[in-house]
Amino acid sequence: MFDSLALLPPDSILGLAAACRADSNPDKVDLTLGVYMDETGLCPVFEAVQQAQRDLVQEEMTKVYMPPQGDAAYLEGVQTLVLGEERRALLGDRLTAVQTPGGCGAVRLGAEVIFAAAPTATVWVSDPTWPVHIPLMGSVGLQFKSYRYYSAAIRGLDFTAMLEDLEAASPGDIVLLHGCCHNPSGVDPNAEQWQALATFMAERALVPMVDFAYQGMGAGLSEDAAGLRCLIDHIPEMIIAVSSSKNIGLYRERAGAVIFLGGDARAAEAMASQAVSAARRVYSMPPAHGALLAGRVLSSPDLRSQWAAELAQICQRINGLRRDFCDALIAETDRDFAFISEEHGMFSFLGLSVEQAQRLRNDKSVYVLDSSRINIAGLNAGNMDRVVNAVSAVL
Ligand code: LMR
Repeated sequence: MFDSLALLPPDSILGLAAACRADSNPDKVDLTLGVYMDETGLCPVFEAVQQAQRDLVQEEMTKVYMPPQGDAAYLEGVQTLVLGEERRALLGDRLTAVQTPGGCGAVRLGAEVIFAAAPTATVWVSDPTWPVHIPLMGSVGLQFKSYRYYSAAIRGLDFTAMLEDLEAASPGDIVLLHGCCHNPSGVDPNAEQWQALATFMAERALVPMVDFAYQGMGAGLSEDAAGLRCLIDHIPEMIIAVSSSKNIGLYRERAGAVIFLGGDARAAEAMASQAVSAARRVYSMPPAHGALLAGRVLSSPDLRSQWAAELAQICQRINGLRRDFCDALIAETDRDFAFISEEHGMFSFLGLSVEQAQRLRNDKSVYVLDSSRINIAGLNAGNMDRVVNAVSAVL
């Protein structure tokens, strides 16, 4: 039965992370996968999470299934984090949320709900976008078109081209947006552009689906939510896919949530019911551990402020790395890399060809994606010079 089954190639991101792990060069540098790494190259567990984990181990009395909708404290905490107290209160029962296995689970359940409501709707995705978006949502049955977003010529967002392309969208189409720290480019709309986008989408009855995986990693927790909150103030329906992988560091625990904003309470409840039913068809109920930890962190004033301070330090360090890397690249190559210090979050394109990216990996053991996307958070004082020299050499 499986004799002629196609053997699939490795994933374009995870496959390169595996290739780096397999490289025996002691000086290899892994800039592939989007995980935060500290100065020692470790993806650390937040201290606030460690405390929550100790408490949970002491207090947990059961391993019975989670409720289908997920952990109430986690869902409460995440909604407040994303929307802020004021908007949450204002939107009241037009908001519902369902806990998911990571941000991927949230994108997937969001897609299931879109398909249940409007199977012929087109989903508009940025060019480029995270390579998993299309398979993740497309396997539900949705159709895609892309809008121009990152321009290599200007090393930034081509907002005019973006709106020009979205002019072709029909009312009820979905526009997939990255709430902050665009993956893979690191390029986000500015405040004026978010405002213009919100008006544009409201006028054309386009529905935003926001992938919000990096809140707090770009400029700060509320700064990174500003664009999304601007959309919410103008648009009556929205889906937000939240991940706690990066900003609470729960990667392997698969903690995430999908938030639904409906035109009224009934619609919001229907959206959540569809998500819960879609989950039941695939994995039944969400995993407990990560969401229970995050729920504890977000609902305890002490742990929350400790976590927020740790996250702020991470954000500061990433922005410092951006500046140092940019300065070092300019000094070494005499080319313009200023864009690196202006972008947000973990990712940037180096602007290399596929062939140059491959040479970085094969000749220098510096692992970047074929698109030349790098994870800035994989840099540190110990490997920065090596990376800068390697980039200069392949240029
Ligand atoms: C990435 O883009 O590297 C991360 O979102 C991790 C992943 O699953 O691809």
